[in-house]
Amino acid sequence: MRKKITVVGGGNVGATVAQRIAERDYADIVLVDVVEGMPQGKALDLAESGPILGYDSNVTGTNTYDETKDSDLVVITAGIARKPGMTRDDLLRTNKSIMQSVVKEVVQKSPNSILLIVSNPLDAMVYEAYKQSGFPKERVLGMAGVLDTARMRTFIAQETNVSVEDVQAYVLGGHGDTMVPLVRYATVGGLPLDHWMSSEKIDAIVTRTRQGGGEIVSLLKTGSAFYAPSAAVLQMADAIILDKKRVVPAAAYLEGEYGVNNVFIGVPVVLGESGVEKIIELELTDEEKAGFDNSIAAVEELIDAMDNL
Ligand code: LAC
Repeated sequence: MRKKITVVGGGNVGATVAQRIAERDYADIVLVDVVEGMPQGKALDLAESGPILGYDSNVTGTNTYDETKDSDLVVITAGIARKPGMTRDDLLRTNKSIMQSVVKEVVQKSPNSILLIVSNPLDAMVYEAYKQSGFPKERVLGMAGVLDTARMRTFIAQETNVSVEDVQAYVLGGHGDTMVPLVRYATVGGLPLDHWMSSEKIDAIVTRTRQGGGEIVSLLKTGSAFYAPSAAVLQMADAIILDKKRVVPAAAYLEGEYGVNNVFIGVPVVLGESGVEKIIELELTDEEKAGFDNSIAAVEELIDAMDNL
């Protein structure tokens, strides 16, 4: 039987995720959004692309959750973006309540699904989804590390003028200014970055990676990134649906790993059909550990602020 993937939120990220998954031709897709007609229209448009691109994925658009029943994977992109004049707490409050209502519906219809959260602020939203779902920790995770790492790889490839495919990197920690691009684990053709460029250039890449989301927002002016975020979701969906056991950075629930408890934060995981099958504990230098601890503190502060709303 074909797999079934629900995508909640039919905005730029959600719709592009649905498109990328449809084109993989390994699952049927249900696109859910509260806006009447919009998910139905986008789903029909995607279905009508099938004959041209050669995929048989059924794509359904809906404003309710009945059609999402028995999904294997649910990608949640729903939430609002911060608008001018809005405080972080305003954003947290609104997106927390959206996350609660979405997860409540999703778990009723698909009690065995894996939840992949994309909504921001990412690390706090994954935590909320986990609490609301009652799912085991393996089946709730967040997308950010693959995206942040892809940004870092892009900048490294541009600087060294080699294929992005030959650039490896790891960005851990929260999806925000405190993320931790691990320079020591970044390589180009197997060689460390300092073989390829000056420390000033490396520092500039680290800074640009940290501000990667904001760079796109300031260019677009009326929205945030969606091509790379949806590509990152696709890589994670591939790992889950095809049980590839990919090693990718993802926001996962820590219970003692890295000396941390009760927080979702970006760490390398093995991703397969059961979800987060293993958390990989990288050995960190004191400096890297300090950066990671700083990021954990920022995420914990965010979660506390959300819990107190
Ligand atoms: C970004 C948003 C989508 O990093 O979180 O672009």
